[in-house]
Order: sequence, then C-alpha cells, then structure tokens
Amino acid sequence: MKRLVILTGAGISAESGLKTFRDSDGLWEGYNIEDVATPEAWQRNPELVQDFYNQRRKSVLEAEPNAAHYALAALQDKYDVTIITQNIDDLHERAGSTRVVHLHGIITRSQSSIKANLTYPIDGWEIKMGETCELGSQLRAHVVWFGEAVPMIEKAAVICSEADLFILVGTSLAVYPAAGLINYVPRDVTKYIIDPNIPTVGNKRIVEMPFKATIGVPMLVDELMA
Ligand code: APR
Repeated sequence: MKRLVILTGAGISAESGLKTFRDSDGLWEGYNIEDVATPEAWQRNPELVQDFYNQRRKSVLEAEPNAAHYALAALQDKYDVTIITQNIDDLHERAGSTRVVHLHGIITRSQSSIKANLTYPIDGWEIKMGETCELGSQLRAHVVWFGEAVPMIEKAAVICSEADLFILVGTSLAVYPAAGLINYVPRDVTKYIIDPNIPTVGNKRIVEMPFKATIGVPMLVDELMA
C-alpha cells in the first residue's frame, strides 16, 4: 500500500462549527492567545484558562465530523494512511480514522500540570479545579501551549519523510514547528493543498485546490480512490 500522509489544521473542522484561529479578528473565541494558551496565562490565572478549555471541550463534544473527515477515513481502504493533525478535537477519530498523530494534544484528555506526559481520559466535559494527577498537581487540558515543547514533532517528521503522497488541509502554516513538516516530505512526492486561501510553500510538485474542506477533500478522495 502507498503511504499517504495528511497534515490537517483548524480549517478541516470549520464546517463542523469549530472556529479557526487566524480567520477572523485575531482573537480566539474572544480571547487573546497569550491570555489563555501560554504557561504564563496558567500561572497568572489558572481558573480562567481551565474554564476557557472546558468551554472549548464542550464545543468539541457537541460538534460532529463533517464530509471531509469522513472522506479522509475512507482512504484507509486503499492506502496506508497517517493523519498528522494540529487540531485538538477528536473529529478524525470519530469519523473512523485509526492512525492520528495529535501534534498539539487532544482536548478530550487531561494532563498533569507538572509532568506533561501524564495524561488521563476525562469523565464528561469539565476538568475541575482541585482535580489532581497521581503526583498531586492540578489537572489541565492536554494541549500544547505556545512556548511549550511539541513532543510528537520528531515522530511526525519521520512519518513525513516516508510519505509517497502528501495532503495538506485547512492550515495557514503560520505556526512552527508544524509548518516546517512539509519540508521533510521528499521533493519528488506529489503534494496537494486544499484550502480556500492557499498558504505559501516554497516547494514544487504542489497541486493547489482552493476549496472548502467539505468540497475539496471528497473531490480529491474520489480521484485517489478511482
Ligand atoms: N475548509 C478548508 N480550509 C479552511 C476552511 C474550510 N471550510 N475555513 C478556513 N480554512 C483555512 C483558512 O484559509 C486557513 O488557511 O483554514 C486555515 C486556518 O488557519 P489557522 O486558523 O491559522 O489554523 P491552523 O493552521 O490550524 O493553526 C495552527 O495555531 O493557534 C495555534 O495551536 C493552534 O493548532 C493551531 C495552530
């Protein structure tokens, strides 16, 4: 089977009702990123950060996968598929994709606030203040904040370097190290980009598909399954 690697960003979940980060007014659900998505924000005001991610988790649990998530899952019948996602939602998994690498964590799990690799399932939508990890420290959302290490990046780079085909969906490629992953894909591998605003990539063999995910992804999947 050919190895197909797909890097997804917030754009693939936009039509499931989950907001992207850089499309609107520079705010994320009304907040500056520095006020909610950094270790400093957690130090300053853990209750606010906890509540912010509890609300995001609630939205994720209420959202449903869309036609783009389902179409990518169907590729598994013909290809050896790995999805590398920057998204913290679980919509790829719920659509049936079985190999999903979450670069920025997953909001449906909690994480120790002193040891990042201690993570746990969450019962319901809320992490409460006072709930602790096995070391006794407060639990927080299992997401990678700005300024924190991205533990999965090396594994993701190896996966990209072994791709036979590569697809990018719904990412502005504004945030590193994720944005650099395309540089690990061999030069002669065909790369498809599905995004209404095609990001700039200094790379040849790019097929640009300037469509929304629910249109562009099923279109490309039909072509790849034919
Ligand atoms: N279908 C496909 N793409 C879309 C759609 C859609 N319906 N709507 C918007 N887009 C595209 C936008 O054109 C843009 O290129 O999705 C992209 C969203 O970009 P960002 O908001 O920057 O999201 P992303 O690239 O995933 O951000 C990366 O930044 O804040 C951090 O950790 C966070 O994982 C996130 C990272």
